[in-house]
Amino acid sequence: MDVFVIEGGRRLEGNIRVNGSKNAALPLMAAALLTDDKVTFRDIPDLADIRNMVRLLAELGCLRLNEAEGFETGVHTFRNVEQSQSHATYDIVRTMRASICVLGPLLAKRGQARIAQPGGCSIGDRPVDLHLRGLRALGAHITLEQGDIVAKAPAGGLRGATIFLGGRFGSTVLGTANVLSAAVLAKGTTVIESAACEPEIVDLAEMLIAMGAKITGHGSPRIRVEGVKELSGVNHRVIADRIEAGTFIAAAAITNGDLTIENCPIDAMLAVRDRFDAAGVNIRTVNGEDELMRATVRVTADRVLKPVELTTQPHPGFPTDLQAQFMAMLCLADGNSVITERIFPERFLHVAELSRMGANLFRQGATVVISGVRKLVGAPVMASDLRASACLVLAGLAAEGTTVVHRVYHLDRGYDNMEGRLANVGARITRTSDANVPAAATEV
Ligand code: EPU
Repeated sequence: MDVFVIEGGRRLEGNIRVNGSKNAALPLMAAALLTDDKVTFRDIPDLADIRNMVRLLAELGCLRLNEAEGFETGVHTFRNVEQSQSHATYDIVRTMRASICVLGPLLAKRGQARIAQPGGCSIGDRPVDLHLRGLRALGAHITLEQGDIVAKAPAGGLRGATIFLGGRFGSTVLGTANVLSAAVLAKGTTVIESAACEPEIVDLAEMLIAMGAKITGHGSPRIRVEGVKELSGVNHRVIADRIEAGTFIAAAAITNGDLTIENCPIDAMLAVRDRFDAAGVNIRTVNGEDELMRATVRVTADRVLKPVELTTQPHPGFPTDLQAQFMAMLCLADGNSVITERIFPERFLHVAELSRMGANLFRQGATVVISGVRKLVGAPVMASDLRASACLVLAGLAAEGTTVVHRVYHLDRGYDNMEGRLANVGARITRTSDANVPAAATEV
């Protein structure tokens, strides 16, 4: 298995570009199932999850027509050529939870879907009850058979409804994507109340509108949809990845660096910017004043970071997907910070690993108190999920000595060529096989 070897203590300086958003791309790609026409995407990042989604769509008869072009172009053209297969098997769903995104589109377009129920993952239980509640409200008949969710539309097709989609932890991003993607082809009016307001949902709604859907209110908690009979093809550019952007800003801050970040969706990062500000991280928009979803920003930080308190919340609150990266940064702040996780209360596997690097952390339930230390020290550490891996890379960039981050396949799910891009701005980071790492560093 691959590991990253990081020699810490180097200041990051230079330019770095943010890729298209993985979490926007996955439901967008699933929405290609909604039309018989061609759908072209630009700026799709080259990641394991994206390849899995391409494979899943192919199994469902929705083929990538530009197969000859590599994934690194970011361009994908799909067409639904064979609509008899509507089963997403466990084999693929277990490799990628976001496979659940095909449920709404299949049900709306083909009248049926069978999807292996996703299991839990290292960040928590991750149920899909709200997805099912929303689709049932549209008239779907849903049962659980042999671990698969089996969904059928009623004889006359799905019909619009007023749906409250909030749950114990607030709104659901992929649940909203599923219900929205189904409602666009349902008969009549659908109102989704307590809808997710995330920029990825706005991107999906905008693409669906360009395909002929009638949607208003996206970006607010109440989305209204007037169903249409069919959707046409589209050519859509995926929004930039706000989580990748936030990770790079944290990388500049933790190394006391000076990074210019291009294609930064700063307008979708106001809560994040507020917390960076409070910590003494200076983000200045260099250009892109009229295109704040693709701005260029320059990031510098005070030599000594200030402690902050933050609570993760659904958008426009602070995103859970940047919680771990912020924790790495706050380990080096001058004082006590407090992080409370309100979306995935168990998403703290990085706490024990950061402690191995000299961080001073105290967790109680969904809250962690971070007492800043003067330095972190390199150590062998184990990545447990995508964002926890990013957190350990950040800690490694700032730590004294060598850090070996094991299981970087987690990181590869969300960041394309992270090591190359960080090395370009001055980090000393290399990818190698764990077989090449000295024995002492593999004892994790
Ligand atoms: N929830 C339910 N029932 C449901 C659905 C969700 O109780 O039917 C709960 C979840 O357990 C959680 C909360 O609601 O406590 C929010 O979960 P949500 O459904 O919004 O998460 P998701 O849509 O499955 C997406 C991202 C995650 C990101 C979350 C929250 C994708 C592919 N995944 O997941 O991204 O953390 O929204 O913003 O878009 C990541 O990129 O590292 C990642 C995990």
